[in-house]
Amino acid sequence: MRKISIANQKGGCGKTTTSINLSACLASKGRKVLLIDLDPQGHSTIGLNIDTNELEKTVYDALCDSEIETTTLDDVVIPIAEDFYFVPASINLSALEQELSGVPNREIKLKEAIKKLYRSYDYILIDCPPSLGLLTFNSLMASTEIFIPIDMGFFSLQGTGRLMEIIELVRKKTDHEIKVKAIATMYDKRTRISNEILNHLRDHFRELMFNAVINSNVKLKEAVSFGETIVEYDRKSQGFKDYLELTAEVIEDESLFGVIPFKEQEKSSFKPNMIEKQFVYHAPQAKSIKIVGNFNHWVPTAELWMDRNEDGTWSKVIQLEPGEYQYRYIVDDRWTENKKRILK
Ligand SMILES: Nc1ncnc2c1ncn2[C@@H]1O[C@H](COP(=O)(O)OP(=O)(O)O)[C@@H](O)[C@H]1O
Ligand SMILES: [Mg+2]
Repeated sequence: MRKISIANQKGGCGKTTTSINLSACLASKGRKVLLIDLDPQGHSTIGLNIDTNELEKTVYDALCDSEIETTTLDDVVIPIAEDFYFVPASINLSALEQELSGVPNREIKLKEAIKKLYRSYDYILIDCPPSLGLLTFNSLMASTEIFIPIDMGFFSLQGTGRLMEIIELVRKKTDHEIKVKAIATMYDKRTRISNEILNHLRDHFRELMFNAVINSNVKLKEAVSFGETIVEYDRKSQGFKDYLELTAEVIEDESLFGVIPFKEQEKSSFKPNMIEKQFVYHAPQAKSIKIVGNFNHWVPTAELWMDRNEDGTWSKVIQLEPGEYQYRYIVDDRWTENKKRILK
């Protein structure tokens, strides 16, 4: 599983736009993606058309130190599109830093929460706030990679030195390697400053920078205001092409991280004497559905979480030997009545 922080303490450099659209593009390429909004401003949450007033719980609840009830990240996951899942944030996240002051291990709250995830993903992306406080630190500590979007504006390079210092500190504190890669954003080929900064960045970061460049493109701005990703909003736009190119480069590195996408694992694990059977459940309002049965000793293991389809149905293909099976769905932790199916 690749865990990627999208971080830069400078606001407005394209963190949220990159988080949303890289996630959506990776999912469109069949990767199972979880995007975590870690910014109290909740821009990813709003950009994905989620009304924070209607949310009972957010990422805050999964990170705070509540003794009354424990919320896990799985509890707050919202399906967005096929293979695209999301953990929302709201303004109460801004109180977390103060609430956790003095709490041991407060820097690894997110890392621990991700470790406990019931369901596995190919990618976890984290949209960081525009600061280098506890939230960003948590994100870096939880990550195997850090992508730094850098806009091609006059002040864009200010602060990257400080960010690199923090990353160095995080590297010393963790037991795993962390790869850093810069992404040039809001590039405008007509302006001299864009070209100067791009050249400077290429000299500075060299191979630690993606070749793909995200051009300044009004469709990316429009898409957010409609609560859509660029994949849904306009596949003909330059913005879509750029994010798709970036996605291709990200996918190229998968072998370095030992990622074999779930879809490919499923294909290669097919056994000839088994039957592939699709289970479908209609529940457009549900947040998560698992399927359990006597075929897996009634334990809702991660492989048996169903995927939400665009029409509000949930489906899962399971390989089973021919025979008679009992099963139930778990819809948002509520078990449905027993069902029976004979497979021939
Ligand atoms: N490539 C781009 N072209 C045009 N506008 C962009 C682009 N990337 C981001 N924006 C816009 O710039 C603003 C800041 O981007 P955002 O992704 O929210 O930055 P951050 O999360 O770093 O604060 C938003 O209004 C966004 O729609
Ligand atoms: Mg943002």
